[in-house]
Formats: sequence, structure tokens, C-alpha cells
Amino acid sequence: MKTIIEPFKIKMVEPIKLTTRAEREAILRKACFNVFQIPAEEVMIDLLTDSGTAAMSSEQWAGMMRGDESYAGARSWYRFEAVLRDLTGIAHVLPTHQGRASERILFELIGGPGKVIPSNNHFDTTRANIEHSGAKAVDLVIAEGTQPKNRHPFKGNMDLAKLDRLIAEVGAANIPVCMMTVTNNSGGGQPASLANLGEVRTICRRHGIPFFLDACRFAENAYLVKQREPGQEGKNAREIARAMFDLADGATISAKKDGLVNIGGVLLMRDDALAARANNLLILTEGFITYGGLAGRDLEAMAQGFTEVLDEHYLEYRIRSVAYLGEHLLQAGIQIVEPPGGHAIYIDAAAFCAHLPASQFPGQALVCALYRHAGIRAVEIGSVMFGEARPPPMELVRLAIPRRVYTQSHIDYVIEATIEVFQRRDRLRGLRIVEEPRALRHFTAKFEEMV
Ligand code: F0G
Repeated sequence: MKTIIEPFKIKMVEPIKLTTRAEREAILRKACFNVFQIPAEEVMIDLLTDSGTAAMSSEQWAGMMRGDESYAGARSWYRFEAVLRDLTGIAHVLPTHQGRASERILFELIGGPGKVIPSNNHFDTTRANIEHSGAKAVDLVIAEGTQPKNRHPFKGNMDLAKLDRLIAEVGAANIPVCMMTVTNNSGGGQPASLANLGEVRTICRRHGIPFFLDACRFAENAYLVKQREPGQEGKNAREIARAMFDLADGATISAKKDGLVNIGGVLLMRDDALAARANNLLILTEGFITYGGLAGRDLEAMAQGFTEVLDEHYLEYRIRSVAYLGEHLLQAGIQIVEPPGGHAIYIDAAAFCAHLPASQFPGQALVCALYRHAGIRAVEIGSVMFGEARPPPMELVRLAIPRRVYTQSHIDYVIEATIEVFQRRDRLRGLRIVEEPRALRHFTAKFEEMV
């Protein structure tokens, strides 16, 4: 069959409030053209993030009811630990409330002034936690990774020559860990190949540098490896995911992505001494080592989610449905980051709004237009998010697809709306910032439309 169906049926529904254009115009103005300030109820299709927005399965909800809420050594904890050990082969499993909590613990232990931490691309919170420790975060993605039209199958790969050069420059002793984000969220949701992960690990080994994955979207990366990497097509996603983890000394994971849950995170490590120190910090700020700031029912939902996400039919549908959106936009002449990656489609806003310079925030203009026209909430990943201090390599608008939440007709609506906005793109107006906070300005900045 050509049609790949959603491999689930829907037992419980949440109504979507349908708004008129006039209502949305008023809401957008009240939010000062910042969609983070719009109440979610006023959004028809919410593509702000794929994080914590998944629909849980009947088995996950059943697990929630079975959750053991004992303080220490709950049954739910042992199930969670066993699932994560089986999936990753990594001995020390620490539960945390979300990805950035894992990052904070890790970098508090191994970061600090004078240290340098490379990655393909660090996600915002990873970079912020590294910098908070006093260390420096460095992005070493391959050149193809910043070229929207380039159809390199693994644009999340690390540039190995750049890694060699960095090690020679700063010295291995100042690099406490080398990371790889899979898939590479900041670089367009693009996967890293198993071959590249292996080469990065070989370089790390040669210099005695530990190698960690930011593995939020490990299952999507594994499925893209199966589809795109010669020699991997015969393996299943679970085997490929295991091969990825086998290369790593540890991992930080936000379970809000491929864990298929609304809250939760994991910190994994092989080193006994480091794990003992991490457990002490975990107790200090998250909770006892067998719940890490979560309820027993959350651990059950994660254990089930990390199992379900590797279902081949689920991954086939997931990757196909994201590609479907991307291919239709491309066919209409809308430039996206090609080829479509794992969890989102990234529109090249600089190409979409060719009449707007970066100083007038083309990405934000497109985000506002999608909300105004159709009640769709996307997110700017460009000059608003990065700021003048760190001009971004691309002006992007991310349409992130929550897992198992929207059907194909919702996606068809997004396609139709985006194409209609594109047909009238010369009318999109630039924006100026009228008020901004000191850090992470994209969440709260206020804008005005240019005349
Ligand atoms: N690493 C990556 C690659 C991420 O995409 C995120 C979150 C985190 C770490 C932090 O995890 O939110 O659980 O603390 N990304 C979300 C997004 C917020 O919208 O892309 P967290």
C-alpha cells in the first residue's frame, strides 16, 4: 500500500477551539507579536514544540495507574531502570525531571572555567548549562549542516577535521566530554550517521576524552540511519539505537521527545566514580536516586514510552508524516532545510521573506503570519532567538510535530495555510523589538510591526 496510516486509533479526544481571523488578529496584538505569549487554547494547530506534547498510549496510561509511589526502591523505578539498561547497555541510570536537569548535573560535575565542550550543535539549554558552569560550548557540525538546500543525508554529522583541530588547540585535558546531539535539533532535526558517531568516538578514545550523546531523539535518528546509511537497512531501529549507545560513555536524554511522555529525563553513564558523584547531586536537587524528581507513575510512563518508540511501524509513520509536510512545501516552491529530518520541518525564512533583512526578523514575521492566517503556532529559530551577539547561520521557522497528536488532515491544513501565506509573502511586514529581557529573549520579547 502507498498510504501509510497512523498506526493507532483515537480513544480520547481534545476539542480544538476554532478562531476567526479577526479574533486571532486581536490575540496576536495582545501578545505583542510573540506567540509564546498566546494562550494555548487560542491556537488551532500547535507546532511550537515536539517536547512534552506527545499523546500517551493506553498502555502508558495503564502504567500511570500501576505507578508505585514508594519513596525508595519503587517497583516502577526498577522497571524503568531495566528498560533503559536493556535499551542502552549503560549501567548507571539516573532519572531526572527533564533534559536540562540531566545537563545541569553533568556539567556541574565536569564543566567549569577553562573547559571546552564540543558538539555537532549544542541545543540552547545544553549550551546555557555549559556556559553556566563557566565552560565554553563549541559547535562543530559539517559545513553541509548549515546549507538549507544541501541534501546530504547526515547533516547532523560532526566535522572530524574541526574536532582534531580543536583538540590540538585547547588540549585534550581541557575537554572533559565531547557531545553529539541526535538528531541535531538546532541544525534542522538532521541525523548523524553511525559511521560519523564511530569516528568521533575513535578520536575521543585516542585522546582519552569521554563521549556522550544528547539522545533526546535517538529513535528518530536510528530510523533515519536505517533508511539512509548503506549497510544499515537490514537492522531494526532497536539494534541501531543500541549500536549508537554502544559507542557512548554516557548520555543526557529529555524523555519529553522520544520517551513519548509529557515530563521526564534521564542521565546515563558508565563511569562508576562519576555516577556516584552524580547521584549525590541528584539527591541534593532532584530527589532520591530511585525517582529523581518524578512520580512513580511518570517512571512507568517513561518505561513504556521508551519501549513503544522503537516500534518500526510507529517510526515509519512518524518519519513519513514529517517528510510528507516537507515535500508538499518544497513542491510549492517553499525552501525548507532539506532533506526533511526527524521531528520537524524547518522553513528557510530568509528565502520565504526575501524582502526582509535579518534586522527585521523574517522568521518572526512568518511565525506571526501563520498564526494570523490559520491559527498555527510555529517557532522562530533565527535572529530573535540567537540575538545580535551570536548571529545565526540560518533564519529558520520550525514546524515541530508533536508525536501521535495530529492526523494527516491537520497536516494538510498546515500545508494549505503555509502555501497561501507564501503566495502573498511580499505583504509580510518586518518587526522591531520594543522590549526585551537580558537573556533568552525569544520567550518574552515584545514586538511591533513595521509600517
Ligand atoms: N537537548 C535537545 C536536543 C533538545 O531539543 C532539548 C529540548 C533539550 C536538550 C532539553 O530538554 O526541554 O527536557 O529540558 N528541546 C525542546 C524543543 C524544548 O522545543 O526543541 P528539556
